[in-house]
Amino acid sequence: MLTKRIKRLSPYVPGEQPQDRSYIKLNTNENPYPPTPLIEPFLKSFEIERLRRYPDPLFGTLRKAISKRFNIDISQVFVGNGSDEVLAFAFYAFFDSARGKLIFPEFSYSFYPVYCDFYGIEYRKIPLNENFTIDIDDYLDEESSCGIVFPNPNAPTGILLPLEKVTALMERYPEDRVVIIDEAYVDFGGESAISLIGRFKNLLIIRTFSKSMSLAALRLGFAMGDEGLVNALFAVKDSFNSYPADLIAQKIGEIAINDTSYYHSITQKIIKSREFLSKALEDLGWRVLPSNANFIFAGKKGLKGESIYKRLKEEGILVRHFNTEGIENFVRITIGTDEEIKTLIASIQRLF
Ligand SMILES: Cc1ncc(COP(=O)(O)O)c(C=O)c1O
Repeated sequence: MLTKRIKRLSPYVPGEQPQDRSYIKLNTNENPYPPTPLIEPFLKSFEIERLRRYPDPLFGTLRKAISKRFNIDISQVFVGNGSDEVLAFAFYAFFDSARGKLIFPEFSYSFYPVYCDFYGIEYRKIPLNENFTIDIDDYLDEESSCGIVFPNPNAPTGILLPLEKVTALMERYPEDRVVIIDEAYVDFGGESAISLIGRFKNLLIIRTFSKSMSLAALRLGFAMGDEGLVNALFAVKDSFNSYPADLIAQKIGEIAINDTSYYHSITQKIIKSREFLSKALEDLGWRVLPSNANFIFAGKKGLKGESIYKRLKEEGILVRHFNTEGIENFVRITIGTDEEIKTLIASIQRLF
């Protein structure tokens, strides 16, 4: 009954979304603060009659708002149902192992190998430096890669690759192969590569509304890059699902992207809490990688990430651990509210 294809799949396992009890949930990098208050009046006055018609398949007003916000042309913007979907479309459009393997960091977003397996794209994971940073020379050494993808800041490490290094990578990488920079966490103190879009036709930046804009449930993501790349993404979308972002999502996305002052204020709060938590854990003898994201990657000598995770879960606190060799002694902790962070620190102090 089932195809061979489906038997070969090894799907991505999303972080726990427990429904049994309420946890201090610091495991899936959600935002601890609500999305912009401007959404409420919109929803209250929304005319339900409008749901009768299909939404705009070109996401016109949302793409316009995104292009204005980032000072690029609307033809350089694509929108999808979460950045996971945008990534999925991009892998299909740009990576073909007939031209070499796709390369990405050894420790990075675990959906990348899943897409590769799904499409049959061969890939190679490039080890990080000892301090978990990316060395761009390792990506240029690859004799025949069909493209590059990496999150910046990286996940789960939280470490940023500075813009000058990104620029150097783009300058030296073959211009007929696409480089995707997944900027899911860039708003938390990263340096975006948007300024390079006009210069490099092979650069695609992917962003999400799920993290800094606190809209993970809405499922909205976008890509920015040369018009040729954007057109290719539209071709994939229209061969799969013409309406991945519904009318309400498009409207709310527009409201969110325009409310820069609200989002600036909650982002600053998260950055402050991150620094507070990092210092508190370091004071307790933990190793904390320098993060520019809304999470930290931390561990304590002699403790497995899994046992930290289990003991915190018993306390009603969820964090994320990875049983992958090389990062098995770390946990990834999403930055919560100050109160949540203080509870976490108190538990850690008591337990470990
Ligand atoms: C690096 C990275 N990229 C993309 C995503 C997907 O985000 P979404 O599909 O919610 O836009 C995530 C989610 O955790 C992520 O960590």
